[in-house]
Parts: sequence; structure tokens; C-alpha cells
Amino acid sequence: MDENEKIVEEAVEAASKAEDSKELYEAKMQFLGRSGTVTALMKRMKEIAQELRPAFGKQVNALRQRLETMFSEREERMKEQEMAKKLAAETVDVTMPGKRAKEGTLHPVTRVKNELIGIFAGMGFEVFEGPEIENDYYNFTALNTPADHPARDMQDTFYLTDEFLLRTQTSAGQIRLMEKKKPPIKMLSPGRVFRSDDDATHSPMFHQMEGLVVDKGITLCDLQGMLDEFARTMFSQTSKTRLRPSYFPFTEPSVEVDVSCHVCGGKGCPLCKGTGWIEVLGAGMVNRRVLENCGVDPDEYTGFAFGMGVERIAMLKYGINNIKLLTENDVRFLGQFKD
Ligand code: PHE
Repeated sequence: MDENEKIVEEAVEAASKAEDSKELYEAKMQFLGRSGTVTALMKRMKEIAQELRPAFGKQVNALRQRLETMFSEREERMKEQEMAKKLAAETVDVTMPGKRAKEGTLHPVTRVKNELIGIFAGMGFEVFEGPEIENDYYNFTALNTPADHPARDMQDTFYLTDEFLLRTQTSAGQIRLMEKKKPPIKMLSPGRVFRSDDDATHSPMFHQMEGLVVDKGITLCDLQGMLDEFARTMFSQTSKTRLRPSYFPFTEPSVEVDVSCHVCGGKGCPLCKGTGWIEVLGAGMVNRRVLENCGVDPDEYTGFAFGMGVERIAMLKYGINNIKLLTENDVRFLGQFKD
């Protein structure tokens, strides 16, 4: 009996010293574990006279009971304390002012590209993207610009090998699409293009948006109608377009398209250099040769194509005077393009 009381005392002391659940568990094992005090007592049964054994067994079991109850009560308390501590440590002060995360904005080129897709998708165009590394055939030859054609000098090409180059125009996509799909066609092809060219309004890499429509009875009037719609949505409700004769090997006739100046409304200002008009894109009726190259019968079908520089549209629309601003990634510049 005395020994039991002593063991209980020791156990209570050991339990009191424990500072966390782990230490408490270790203390418990010291008394109730497989090589603990209580088990050792049980093993002493053999040394005890036969008639005293039942009483001894009862004593030891009672001891085990007491220790178990004592430890489990303390375990319970320890868990509560630990949870309270954890909650206190993780308390969030909901009245503190929040830290605002910096919000990004869409790049002006991306904005204009998305807007262009929106305008033309609304007229039934579908988007088709071609590869940036093209071969000579798609970028030039199939577009009625064979190797010795002087029009190849209109674009300073980055050649990778004799056959492969960085596309100079998204017009290559016209051929790739027409090889795959028979008319009626209404395609819009956005993408990066590359030319060895570098000044305030030209960059060796820039974006174009190509348009192609091929069907029975398509005329230049359809082209101008759609471009009028584009100009009104992109620049101003009163914008108009004007076609001037031009030359591209893959269109005949070819035109340069001007939009009335959205800053002065046509009266003349520095942006339009006093003319009231701004050149925005090249276009024309798809050359019969190009249709033939793609297996489309030019006596049955006609079409128009246009190609515009996305950076140029963005610069006009937002009044950006240097194309370099579009690739420098200065957040003070980019942050101005918020919705
Ligand atoms: N590909 C021409 C260019 O880059 C633009 C264009 C496209 C002209 C389609 C006519 C038709 O200059």
C-alpha cells in the first residue's frame, strides 16, 4: 500500500513536470508502458506467497487504474491548453488595414489585339494562327512573290536557312488556311512577325492582324464596309475609311487604307500631319494566282485580304509616340492602360 502511494506521488510529479503532450506521454510510459513501473510490479508476482497473490494483483490493478485516470485527465487538459495557445498564436486582427496586392493590366498590344478579334469575330470571322518560323513557300512564293520578285525587298527578311525564315507577314496564314479549308472562308490571323527594321515607329518584332474572306461574289465594297465598321469601333463613331491604290503581289487590285483622323476629325492636326487621314493598313482583292496556288477556282470564287500592324493601331489609338515603349515593360507606362 505504501509503495503504491509513493508510485502515485512520483507519477503525479512526473506528469506535472511535462510541458507538452509529448513529454506527458513519455511520463505516462515511464509508469504504464511495457517496461514501466507498473509492469515491473506485476512481474514481481512470482516472488509473492501463493495466498497473497490475489490481493497483490488487486492492488496493482487499482494502482494502474488510478494512474490511467490521472494521466488521461492531464492529457485532456494538456490538449485544451495547447489548442488555446495555437488559437492565440494564429489570431487574425480583422480590423487591421489590408495589404493591397498590385494588380496587373493588359498590355496595350494585347488590348488592341483582343479588341480587333472582338470586332471581327462579331462579323463571323474565326481565328487561325500560323507558325512564326515559316518556309519560303508560305511566306513568299505561294503569295505570288517568287525568289526573284522585286517585292521581296519590301520586307527585310531574317533568313534562318535557305528554306526557313522568320515570317515577315501573317499573310502566310492565308495560304495555310486555304490549303486546309474550302470557301466560304472568313479568317482572322493574329501573330508576331519579324523584319530587319528599327526606328521610332518600327521594331524588328511586331504584331500583325491578317484578315481573309473568300466566297462567291466578294467585292472591294465588302472590304470597305467591314473596315468602316472596324474604324468606327476602334477609333470613333464618326470615323471613315478611304482606299488609295497601292501594290502587293498577292492582291489585285491592292489598296492602302486610311482612316479619318480621330484626333481632329479630319480638319488636320500634328497626328495626321495636317492631312486629316491616317494610313492604317494594306489590303486588296486576293490575286487569282494566290487562289490557284491553294486549289481555289478564281472563276468561281473571289476574296479580299487585309493586314494591319497591331502596334501601329495601338500607337494611334492611345497616342503613343515611340514603339520602344511597347517593349520596355516600364510599369509606369503599362499601368496607364487600365479598364
Ligand atoms: N502583308 C502585307 C504587309 O505586311 C499587308 C497585306 C495583307 C496587304 C493582306 C494586302 C493584303 O505589308
